[in-house]
Amino acid sequence: KFVTAAVLAISLSAGAAAAACDDGEIVIKLSHVTNSDKHPKGIAATLLESRINEEMNGKACMEVFPNSTLYNDDQVLEALLQGDVQMAAPSLSKFEQFTKVFSIFDLPFMFKNINAVDEFQNSEAGQAMKESMTRRGLLGLAFWHNGMKQMSANKPLLLPTDAAGLKFRVQPSDVIKAQMEAIGVSPQPMAFSEVYGALQTKVVDGQENTWSNIYGQKFFEVQDGTTETNHGIIDYMLVTNTDWWDGLPEDVRTQLATIVDEVTTSRNAESTNVDLESRAAIIAAGGEVRELDEAQREAWIAAMKPVWDQFRDDVGQENIDAAQAINA
Ligand code: LMR
Repeated sequence: KFVTAAVLAISLSAGAAAAACDDGEIVIKLSHVTNSDKHPKGIAATLLESRINEEMNGKACMEVFPNSTLYNDDQVLEALLQGDVQMAAPSLSKFEQFTKVFSIFDLPFMFKNINAVDEFQNSEAGQAMKESMTRRGLLGLAFWHNGMKQMSANKPLLLPTDAAGLKFRVQPSDVIKAQMEAIGVSPQPMAFSEVYGALQTKVVDGQENTWSNIYGQKFFEVQDGTTETNHGIIDYMLVTNTDWWDGLPEDVRTQLATIVDEVTTSRNAESTNVDLESRAAIIAAGGEVRELDEAQREAWIAAMKPVWDQFRDDVGQENIDAAQAINA
């Protein structure tokens, strides 16, 4: 009896991760790095999972692995190409080794808000970006929004000169490195899952991220405060393996594409609200949030915007002009 119970317990726990999938269903693993609730990407991934598992039961099933439990962003695209996962949603800054076309999204003060990003992505040029990596085996299914980036450090930041001489964790993007160097900050590329520890042990002094990431990863607990610079954006691409996608039965692919589109439209419309809830939650938890006056904001723009010149050729003047026309 004891042996039977033990075997049952082992097989139950082994089966727990794959609980949603039945024999014969196409398994879609989606790995990402943020928390699942109170986060624009986490909520979108969970909604995608529940809709697929409900509406495609018997045909396909999705398992979401959040919080870097399966892969970091620097591993996940390789895992996608190897077929170990079928979808991922890294920030656009993480695609640099595959394409330079997303550099525009990292340029400081390029987009005034997420609505402007949305409009740019929905233009013909923006939609074409989803297919910019198909030669390398990656197909973009949708852009998912997070929000505007803020700066935090272990000392108050009101002017860019306050950051000079500090070390900041950055995502692995040449544009973001150049942006940090423009204000005298030493950029330290690092996986998202390591940032809290690096801030806590003072391996780095600061970081830039959205409200939902600063709240979700508790960065505010190990920083002096966060300055509302709104100097850039974090946005994602829901990406799949081109061969896997092309090999799906047509009805499955069509149904998946429809669910992806509907989840994208409904969750992108809420991303700014989710992000601002995190801002309020940081303040409620005792975190310091510093707003800039007009002159201070102008000083950040003046210090960072010259970085555009370094990347004009990669990004294309016509794309910069299109983004600026949307802001106007
Ligand atoms: C980061 O690495 O800071 C972000 O891209 C993490 C995320 O997925 O929002």
